[in-house]
Amino acid sequence: MTTATGAAGGMKAAMDASKAFAAHPERARPKPYRRALFLALLLFAILHLAVQLPHLSQDWHESNVPLRAAETLARCRALNSKPGPPPTFSSRVQSDRFQEGTKPILIRNATIWTGRLNGSDVVLGDVYLDNGIVKSAGQLDLAFLENVYSQDIEVLDAQGAWVTPGIVDVHSHIAVESSPGLNGASDGNSVKGLALPWLRSVDGMNTHDASYEHSIAGGITTSLILPGSADAIGGQAFVIKLRPTKERSTSSLLLEPPFDLNNTSVDYSVPPRWRHMKHACGENPSRVYSGTRMDTVWGYREVYDTARKIKGRQDNYCSKAIAGEWDKLGEFPEDLQWEAAVDVLRGKVKVQTHCYEAVDFDAFVRVSNEFQFPVAAFHHAHEAYLVPDVLKRAYEHPPALAMFASFSRYKREAYRHSEYAPRILNDNGLKVVMKSDHPAIQSRYLVHEAQQAHYYGLPANVALASVTSTAAEVLGLDHRIGFVKEGHDPDLVIWDSHPLALGATPVQVIIDGIPQIKSPHFSVKPESQVPPTPPSFDQEAEQTLDHVGLPPLFPSKAVSSTVVFRNVSSMWVRGVGGITPAFQTSANSGALGDVVVYKGRVVCSGTTFGDACASFATQEGVTFIDLKGGSVAPALVSTATALGLGEIGMEESTGDGEVLDPFEKDVPLIAGGDGSITRAVDGLQFGTRNALLAYRAGVTSAITAPSSHGFLGGLSAHLSLGSKHRLDNGAVIQDIAAVHVTVGHTEGASPSISTQIAALRNLLTGKHVGERGEYFEAVAEGSIPLVVNAKSADVIASLLALKKEVENQSQTGAKVHMTIVGGAEAHLLARELAEADVGVIVTPPRSFPYTWESRRVLLGPPVTADTTLSILAQHNVTVGLGPQGISEEALISSWAARNLRWDAAWAALDSHGMIDFADALTMASVNVETLLGVRQNPADTDLVATSGGDLLSFEGKVVAVISPRRGLVDIL
Ligand SMILES: *[C@@H]1O[C@H](CO)[C@@H](O)[C@H](O)[C@H]1NC(C)=O
Ligand SMILES: *[C@@H]1O[C@H](CO)[C@@H](O)[C@H](O)[C@H]1NC(C)=O
Ligand SMILES: *[C@@H]1O[C@H](CO)[C@@H](O)[C@H](O)[C@H]1NC(C)=O
Repeated sequence: MTTATGAAGGMKAAMDASKAFAAHPERARPKPYRRALFLALLLFAILHLAVQLPHLSQDWHESNVPLRAAETLARCRALNSKPGPPPTFSSRVQSDRFQEGTKPILIRNATIWTGRLNGSDVVLGDVYLDNGIVKSAGQLDLAFLENVYSQDIEVLDAQGAWVTPGIVDVHSHIAVESSPGLNGASDGNSVKGLALPWLRSVDGMNTHDASYEHSIAGGITTSLILPGSADAIGGQAFVIKLRPTKERSTSSLLLEPPFDLNNTSVDYSVPPRWRHMKHACGENPSRVYSGTRMDTVWGYREVYDTARKIKGRQDNYCSKAIAGEWDKLGEFPEDLQWEAAVDVLRGKVKVQTHCYEAVDFDAFVRVSNEFQFPVAAFHHAHEAYLVPDVLKRAYEHPPALAMFASFSRYKREAYRHSEYAPRILNDNGLKVVMKSDHPAIQSRYLVHEAQQAHYYGLPANVALASVTSTAAEVLGLDHRIGFVKEGHDPDLVIWDSHPLALGATPVQVIIDGIPQIKSPHFSVKPESQVPPTPPSFDQEAEQTLDHVGLPPLFPSKAVSSTVVFRNVSSMWVRGVGGITPAFQTSANSGALGDVVVYKGRVVCSGTTFGDACASFATQEGVTFIDLKGGSVAPALVSTATALGLGEIGMEESTGDGEVLDPFEKDVPLIAGGDGSITRAVDGLQFGTRNALLAYRAGVTSAITAPSSHGFLGGLSAHLSLGSKHRLDNGAVIQDIAAVHVTVGHTEGASPSISTQIAALRNLLTGKHVGERGEYFEAVAEGSIPLVVNAKSADVIASLLALKKEVENQSQTGAKVHMTIVGGAEAHLLARELAEADVGVIVTPPRSFPYTWESRRVLLGPPVTADTTLSILAQHNVTVGLGPQGISEEALISSWAARNLRWDAAWAALDSHGMIDFADALTMASVNVETLLGVRQNPADTDLVATSGGDLLSFEGKVVAVISPRRGLVDIL
């Protein structure tokens, strides 16, 4: 034994000696001279063994020492070594990602959020980047600056702007799921088995994805690229930095890939690098494999049982090898297919697990304890906030929770999510990370997830850390990214406002010391340089826990007697052609106004109470509501969602279902055959959580078309979102609003675009059949709008041509009232749309090239000065706003209706002054109604009262809905 220890000591010395020669120990391979030295010392160690051992062990024969014993011994000793940076990492002078020819950069006069002190450290000063790493940050001394200035450097004057580390996205499918989405580049999910730990996302990462540019435009610099969630184990994930490289390869994007990525020899003298393994619980693997949760969990257990056996053989082998018992030992036991799973059991892999529900956390935590591996993070984790104690039981440490802010209820396992989840988890001492699941949420807008979490109660320092330093920690990369620290290569974002302010946009994004935005377009936002002060949601968060995620959402009471809103800073009303202020108090005048409501109608408002108003206020039973400087504004109107037609998008039985696509299947005679048309009003459901949450966010009505995945939609209805059922007072505002069709490549089995246009031509000008015929006749006569879902500029152009054709054939000179919904490429036809008097409901308002038909989207600031919205507005096209859902599909975007207030504000912030506050409100209310054929007396439309700030801000909280039509005030 002693001799074996001696040999081991020799080995250790050998490794230490070789380490002393390593200038950059993080380098993957030793240089040739290092290798020679290393081998020489190993040889010495082996000879040492050979000389010493025979004296102690009679069984031992020199001839039994395998040829590569030294390497095997090195491997054995490194078997359980913890991943991490090599000890000398912090003294490196150049980043391994440095690109030759990159000039040093000095950023002057920045407000630096460093990530230190749990995200509360802010330093005013400069940042100097050289060789791809931060050389100095903070108050740089004069001598240093003088020296730096004497060199060939780039200087950026931040003028006091916020500078943060690059945004880190721990959950992205950039490049494995292509954008635009094309079959030829969809490489996120293998369906070749339930558990596939040997697959690697890096092998499917497409380098031409449009997402790179989009994400960088939002300040994303590093992403973990995960395989999809179709499998219990989907494969290994890899971290990339998003900037384009000279080599243009996938490999050159990787950040600290594991040393044996290409299975060449490994330098065991430095610690291994972190690996990542994607697991998925719950619905997705069950769906794909027609299995159950039980099958999925067996999928993990089977893999880790296999891995455990291999690990056991290796451990056994190594203890013998280290003891010098080489006799009949043979080769090191390994299996390429299972080596990554074995590494999970050795604690060398960050286990990243897609998991939503309590049942799934419980099961996965059980597996983590059974096989003794820690879990880095549960992703999505919609119910995590309900079971903090289960999370704390996980092996070694509680997993971090990587979440969405408000994206939920699209499937059962997401049903109980809460916008208060991040703050509740943080209150429980658990680590919170916001993530995108790009393209589910556009990675570009990851800081908006942090902003929303902050709005609903996550402290500002934690919210910012959740997309920078905490995210870096979850990836095992906090030694180099996620903080602005000397020696790190954090990448940097210079912001136009505080990053938690609504619409915060990078002014410049620097990756590996290289500025990524060529000529940035940005506006100065002096009023948004401090984090917003969100309202309190303490009570709501508590209620959510009391009701296990499903707190009651109906208004707490309806008041038809007098309600007086006090301390109102502004009131906005619908007027002719848009929304205008009824009164506005200046921020420093101190004199706030009042709004008096009787039977749901405003009877008096302003900063000075007239006698008439005063008399209302003194009546008995008056309800007073203090708006604390808040505002009263017209309610918002949602469209292009399935609001009112269902509850859980992916559970058909919770909704109305889909209309028959006449291109796919004949409509049966009993339903009217070829002349049939469906009315959304007949399928309405009230009291759904998405509808009530929208109502509580100031979106009090929706215009919803029948759900369709094909060409023919049907007739939309305008409904009130706070009502209990169809026959409730004022529940249905208008039975039939417009006729809806879709032209494009849909999820249904639609034929060619030209065939779809032919069908539309036939419906408008051919023989009119049945009820459907009557409605298309009404469209041709201009008495009901035709709403066409279309994205591509080519499709829109054909629609405009068809409109002209139909109008030219009209005997009466009637104009077709056409509206486009979608309009990703509508900016290319702004003039033509204006000339044809065709309005556009831009959905999503911040476009993304989800499909080929929307590949020509405008990126907007900081990449382009204009957005689709600003160009359309500039051309006087009537513009409405749809939801910023997870795609261009309405059916799964109902959850997003509640965020319309932020989307409207953002549209204004992004428009370099083209769209003001009133315009933004108009686009999210009046214009939606106008474009969709809603005829309502403006005096009858709802108003929304917000406390603490206005409807479109992160300060305002909706407290009441004023409904003249229903003659009441709903107090929430
Ligand atoms: C930093 O920028 C702020 C805001 O533009 C400016 O007021 C201040 O004078 C600048 N300080 C220096 C040292 O340049
Ligand atoms: C294998 O990967 C390492 C980085 O881990 C790299 O240095 C080496 O060049 C790669 N070898 C080949 C043949 O690609
Ligand atoms: C849009 O309308 C404004 C005001 O009516 C007008 O001044 C402007 O010329 C119009 N723009 C275009 C492109 O027609």
